Amino acid sequence: MLKFKKAIVTGGSSGIGHALVNILLNAGVEVVSLARSRADFSGHLHADNLWQISCDICDEANLEAAFQEISDKWDYCDVLFSNAGFGISGTVASTEKEQIIKQFDVNFFSAVTVIQNCLPLLRKAPHPRIVLTSSVAGEISIPYQTFYSASKASLNFLALALNTELKSDEIKTIAVMPGDCQTQFTERREKNPETWACYARSEERSISKMEEDERNGYPPEFVARSLYRYARKERPKALYGVGFTYRFLLLAYKLLPLRLSSWVVSKMYG
Ligand SMILES: NC(=O)c1ccc[n+]([C@@H]2O[C@H](COP(=O)([O-])OP(=O)(O)OC[C@H]3O[C@@H](n4cnc5c(N)ncnc54)[C@H](OP(=O)(O)O)[C@@H]3O)[C@@H](O)[C@H]2O)c1
Repeated sequence: MLKFKKAIVTGGSSGIGHALVNILLNAGVEVVSLARSRADFSGHLHADNLWQISCDICDEANLEAAFQEISDKWDYCDVLFSNAGFGISGTVASTEKEQIIKQFDVNFFSAVTVIQNCLPLLRKAPHPRIVLTSSVAGEISIPYQTFYSASKASLNFLALALNTELKSDEIKTIAVMPGDCQTQFTERREKNPETWACYARSEERSISKMEEDERNGYPPEFVARSLYRYARKERPKALYGVGFTYRFLLLAYKLLPLRLSSWVVSKMYG
């Protein structure tokens, strides 16, 4: 397993990212956390190793300034955890283009910009890693969360392509696909209030089920431990599930005939 000295985490202010920052600090890693808000880590034994920069990753100037600050202090960065994200829900029929763009802006376009800004630092590390927090929804398209799913599927594609593009620098990119997890993600989901009456009942049923599953999902610490473990692998794969149940689900989804797996998803979230 690799040992890291310096890590950058986007979305370290809450949920999975917050748990990840804790794990990294406990492992003696110096951490920069980029998020719009700052979390209180003052009680942490290694709080001195944490540098929180308030930054909206969708604001390119803000992001560039943050990376300038980091580059002024750091010569390299071992690992970038691109983890910040959120979800929208609603029918395809009634989701405004503006909402779809916002979904992709936070979850995908900004992840790309973060990577672009971080590359000069990563290239100077001995075993650089980029870890993207994707989702099971990136492999299995979830009805009424279509654009969230599509944004996470884009991250999976990004990981697959980057492993070839960045091969000469030995930078490995890993997209990790957690399933349901108990974080503020559920309360922060932006639900489209507009819907067509004919789809309203199934949409409501689907999102309520998803919310219940998330509230009973894995604790963020569990997911964060997996992110950290996959990042430290000497020869990581491009895509990983998190936890036995979701890894089994992802495998079954791949092996079953598409008609059957689509029927199961439709029964669960249709
Ligand atoms: N919870 C789940 O069930 C689940 C399942 C699969 C995948 N995921 C993924 O896991 C990742 C972390 O989510 P979470 O569950 O830990 O939810 P969370 O508690 O809501 O955390 C989201 C993090 O993203 C940051 N963020 C959001 N928009 C940002 C922006 N524009 N600029 C900078 N930071 C931003 C937030 O910080 P600020 O608000 O302070 O900016 C926060 O730290 C997300 O990518 C999510 O899609 C979650």
